[in-house]
Amino acid sequence: MGMKTRLCNADDASVREAADILKAGGLVAFPTETVYGLGANAFDASAVLSVFTAKGRPADNPLIVHIHDRNQLDEICDIPLRAPALMDAFWPGPLTILFPRKSVIPDVVTAGLSTVAVRMPSHPVALSLLRASGLPVAAPSANRSGRPSPTTAMHVLEDMKGIIPMIIDGGACEIGLESTVLDLSHESPVILRPGGITKPMLESVLHEEVLLAGSILRPLQPDEKALSPGMRYRHYAPAGSVTLVRGSESDVVSTLKLLCRQDLDAGRKSCVLCFTEHVPMLCGCAPHDMGSIANHAEIAHRLFDILRQLDQEGMETIYSEVIPPEGVGLAVMNRLGRAAAFRMIDV
Ligand code: TXA
Ligand code: MG
Repeated sequence: MGMKTRLCNADDASVREAADILKAGGLVAFPTETVYGLGANAFDASAVLSVFTAKGRPADNPLIVHIHDRNQLDEICDIPLRAPALMDAFWPGPLTILFPRKSVIPDVVTAGLSTVAVRMPSHPVALSLLRASGLPVAAPSANRSGRPSPTTAMHVLEDMKGIIPMIIDGGACEIGLESTVLDLSHESPVILRPGGITKPMLESVLHEEVLLAGSILRPLQPDEKALSPGMRYRHYAPAGSVTLVRGSESDVVSTLKLLCRQDLDAGRKSCVLCFTEHVPMLCGCAPHDMGSIANHAEIAHRLFDILRQLDQEGMETIYSEVIPPEGVGLAVMNRLGRAAAFRMIDV
């Protein structure tokens, strides 16, 4: 496709122009605190349809609607009893809540489901774009389907050049992983996708147990129903094969070295993903620095950029350290686990 894609600074003029594109039924990529989004007017079915085309996204995987003001909710959905406390605590921010949907939201947004996913992002550029457009904006992550979500404007450009008219560059996304998706339609709240708002954070506001969807840390079984359609798809997967290694620090480092060396000796392009502290010990294994072992937010922030690098470098086999699946570590291990098709070696 031959469309010219402009990369614009996040100034007032760009935001106004982007809002005009949205109002006219076009698509704009914009920064949020989690990842970059690819936005369309959520009321405009044909604009939303073009989001699916631009991404190559399966039509049965619904989008998140972004708002800047809670007053926008009444028009688009009902509000479950537990939602206001959550919105008070975590909006604007990386929490997406499923709401019973009203019919002004076209089927194409929700893939025909009876719920609509809504979040209020905290990124100032996202909020000013939403405010300037005056619209609820349906926006999935701005990657081509099956690629890691973009955490910089350059990542968006890699995937969307020639396909969309405009990318607003707001720098690197602070969190770097997609929002937590929470389903309130069951007896207990269920986290469908873990993110920056963690299970203990939700529980401390709701004063009740919050459950985790079964397939967060393992593959979906062939006969298992996906609570969130997104979980059916192979995501975040580099072209090379990723294997996770778990165990004591010294055993993990020596196993990473052994496995990577074997592959390098066999003539394969191979590397390791490791903590900053282990880079010196793995210097012969093309170490990719995931961040400090003590700083899980840093690891989250870097992960998708590293996964994209692996493809650019043509890596065939990748061996990675893991972190405990707690707090934001659960979101990291969900994305890394899926990139590895949950292949794990215990040492
Ligand atoms: O942080 C984020 O959430 C980013 C930024 C741009 O806001 N957006 C994002 O959107 O990650 P997307 O489309 O890449 O992921 C949306 C996820 C998918 O897994 C989808 O299946 C799920 O939310 N989802 C959306 N609507 C749903 C619904 N009604 N019921 C269940 N799952 C839903
Ligand atoms: Mg996505």
